[in-house]
Amino acid sequence: MQNQIHSFRNFLSLGILMLMFAAFVAPVAAQSVLPPGNAVNLDDGIEEGPSNALGNLSDTEIWDIFRGGNPRDILAPTIEGQVMTTTGQQWRVIREQYILKYLGWAPLIVIGILAVFYLIRGPMKIAAGRSGKTIPRFSLSARVAHWFMAAIFIILGLTGLVILLGRVVIAPYLGLEANSVLTSAALQGHNLFGPLFIFALIWLFIKFVRGNFFQWVDLKWIFKLGGFFGGHVSSRQFNFGEKIWFWMVILVGIVISITGIIMLFPSLVEDVRWLQLSTILHAVGAVGLIAVAFGHIYIGTIGMEGSIDSMLKGEVDENWAKEHHDLWYEEVTGKSATEETEAPAKEEIS
Ligand code: HEM
Repeated sequence: MQNQIHSFRNFLSLGILMLMFAAFVAPVAAQSVLPPGNAVNLDDGIEEGPSNALGNLSDTEIWDIFRGGNPRDILAPTIEGQVMTTTGQQWRVIREQYILKYLGWAPLIVIGILAVFYLIRGPMKIAAGRSGKTIPRFSLSARVAHWFMAAIFIILGLTGLVILLGRVVIAPYLGLEANSVLTSAALQGHNLFGPLFIFALIWLFIKFVRGNFFQWVDLKWIFKLGGFFGGHVSSRQFNFGEKIWFWMVILVGIVISITGIIMLFPSLVEDVRWLQLSTILHAVGAVGLIAVAFGHIYIGTIGMEGSIDSMLKGEVDENWAKEHHDLWYEEVTGKSATEETEAPAKEEIS
């Protein structure tokens, strides 16, 4: 009997021991092998994000933070705790898939349109012929400012296109090495002449801003589409088309200048995304301006008879002035532009 009581006690003690063990071990087993949350939680002040190894965020949210929020938004503000951005990848896609693929075509398309226009309409002649009498149009300093800008623009345009499109246009034909030499040389030239563009832009602005503000007569130019499809359009010193060109050069020129400075001195900006945005704006602005410049050069040379005189000699034929800038002609000479046009010059009669 004594023995039976003893073994019952032993059995009871074993049971209690097992129960106590189970009660102690169960929660630990439930945690698997994970340490307590605060064991690896870096107390770095960052509330959420990838640095918090046991953070409460789902994978999707964590990767969202890694990727800088909206992947399409170049200017997305940096999220605190963000480890990296993928805007560099988006920048590369924009550059390779859009800029390099399509932008280079813009100047070629404009050249094509101008060639077709020239073949159909031919040059715009001075209807009454040259009178042989001239009136002053641009001072020497205005002309020097214009040609200084034109020269800098052409140098920067050519070197810039080599830098931008060399890999696509030069390398396949001349080889990678030739492209590398040309691109390095173009880059040096571009960096050297770039700052001069800012100087040229300010000078051009000072010399040409008078006469380039909107005037009511410009509305007639707009309604008659510049007279390109016929009909006479009155104009003062500059017509609306010239004014658009002037303000395009100035405003896009400012964007190109600022983004150019950022690219020359990257330490000026803290966030690399400003640098990425700058390269895109710089290329789009410059190539857009180059494309429109072809239109300007066309009208200034073979497109319109007598136009180039104003920039070469500083004087224009009176009949040219009456036909293209009648109100300016009246202002300058005090004579009516609709009076009988001057007789053609002697040499033209013979
Ligand atoms: C290299 C070829 C170029 C030629 C042959 C040329 C020709 C001309 C001519 C003839 C005029 C005077 C038009 C008039 O009398 O009303 C003019 C004006 C002007 N050009 Fe050029 N140009 C050239 C390049 C450029 C470039 C590269 C720029 C700027 C990036 C430029 C900017 C201007 C401006 C701002 C005016 C004044 C027009 C206004 O104020 O509205 N030109 N150009």
